Parts: sequence; C-alpha cells; structure tokens
Amino acid sequence: MDRKLPFVLAITGASGSVYGLRLLQYLLEIEHPVELLVSRGALQVMREEMDLVFAEDLQAELITYLSLPADSPLTLHRLENYGASVASGSYRTMGMAVAPCSLGTLGSIASGLTESLIHRAAAVTLKEKRPLTILLREMPFGQIQIKHMLTLSEAGATVACASPGFYHKPQSVSDMIDFVVGRVLDQFGFDHSLFKRWKEDAKPIHKVTSK
Ligand SMILES: Cc1cc2nc3c(=O)[nH]c(=O)nc-3n(C[C@H](O)[C@H](O)[C@H](O)COP(=O)(O)O)c2cc1C
Repeated sequence: MDRKLPFVLAITGASGSVYGLRLLQYLLEIEHPVELLVSRGALQVMREEMDLVFAEDLQAELITYLSLPADSPLTLHRLENYGASVASGSYRTMGMAVAPCSLGTLGSIASGLTESLIHRAAAVTLKEKRPLTILLREMPFGQIQIKHMLTLSEAGATVACASPGFYHKPQSVSDMIDFVVGRVLDQFGFDHSLFKRWKEDAKPIHKVTSK
C-alpha cells in the first residue's frame, strides 16, 4: 500500500510545547500527513513560554509559524469533535504521540477517560494496538503519576521523558530539542538524522595529539 498512514500528534499543556511543534514541523517537512490535536492548556503554555499567540485560524497560523508550505498535509481537529476521523479505530493511522504530555492528560489516558478527543484518540490507538508514545516533561514524579506510567506501559504505550542525552555533544538548545524529538520519531521507525547516534561518528571532538 502506497498511502502514508497519518501520524496522530497531540500537544498538551505541559512545559515544552516546543517539542510538539518541532515534531510537527519535522513530519510536515517530510510531507508525512499529521492529524493534530492541541489542548487549551497547550495554547496557554505556548503563550507563556514562547510568546506564541494564535488568533483565529490555528492551522494556517501554525503552518506559517513553522515556515511550512500552505498545502502541508495537516488536519487540525477540534477537541470536542468526537465524530473526527481519529475517534474511530477503523480510521487507520500509524500511531500517536502526545508531546509534550501533561500529567493531567497522562492520568486521563491511563484511566480510560474520554473527556476530549485527545483522550479518545489515545484510547483508540491503544485498543487497536498501534504505537502510542507519551512524552512527559515533568519531574520529579509522584507515586500517582508513576502508577499511571506503569498502567500505560503495561497497556502497550511507550512512556518517554523529555530528557536530552549529552553523548551526541549538543551545541545548542535546538540540538537538545532535536535529540528528544528524534527519539520520539525512533519509536515509529522514522529514518531521520536529527541527532548523531551513539557510535555513528567515532571521531572525538577534541583530538588528542601526541608529541
Ligand atoms: C507555563 C505552564 C507550564 C506548565 N507546565 C506543566 C507541566 O510541565 N506539566 C503538567 O502536567 N502541567 C503543566 N502545566 C499545567 C497544565 O497546562 C494544566 O494542568 C492543564 O490543565 C493541562 O491540561 P491538558 O492536559 O488538557 O493540556 C503548565 C501550565 C503552564 C501555564
């Protein structure tokens, strides 16, 4: 089958909206179709953290902000629309990432609540046994959140943390963001080069020379 199955991306109100936005940008840059869900909490965090204020047409404004072509394969869903494609298991997707994932959304998904289309899409992804990656940013975790993480992991989800590695020798914040985003993409099998993998380039940065 030639058609690329869409990637479902939910951006929720945890600190680190930039992870979700970079993931969205990467997927659309490679022309991978994205079904996007953005919580009100996420919009508030984007305002607070990134001075990003969207006026009316979130989809068009996101595309402009991310410097993407106007015909990028993006579908933005309203969170109260339970008739949306991603609300049904019969609508095929390659899986879903919640990036970043707030503790509230973590708890809702782990409890099987469907108070928004984000929770419903995640529940559908799990029941259809498609990959679901939850990218948490918060730390430290309380026991309740750890239990929710275990519940989701046991249900087949990947629980990831927005903690960049340093072995690829990041030179900028954007390198650190790309590391985290790249590790999320790894869970879905994307062949990307957002960061240098371990042992990929054996050359040390500081060459030791002997006299
Ligand atoms: C600037 C800012 C940063 C926040 N960071 C986090 C966070 O890292 N983790 C979290 O669980 N909630 C965080 N919150 C609170 C959530 O946005 C809030 O609990 C919201 O109701 C989550 O709803 P949502 O999951 O539907 O987006 C933050 C809020 C603001 C304004």
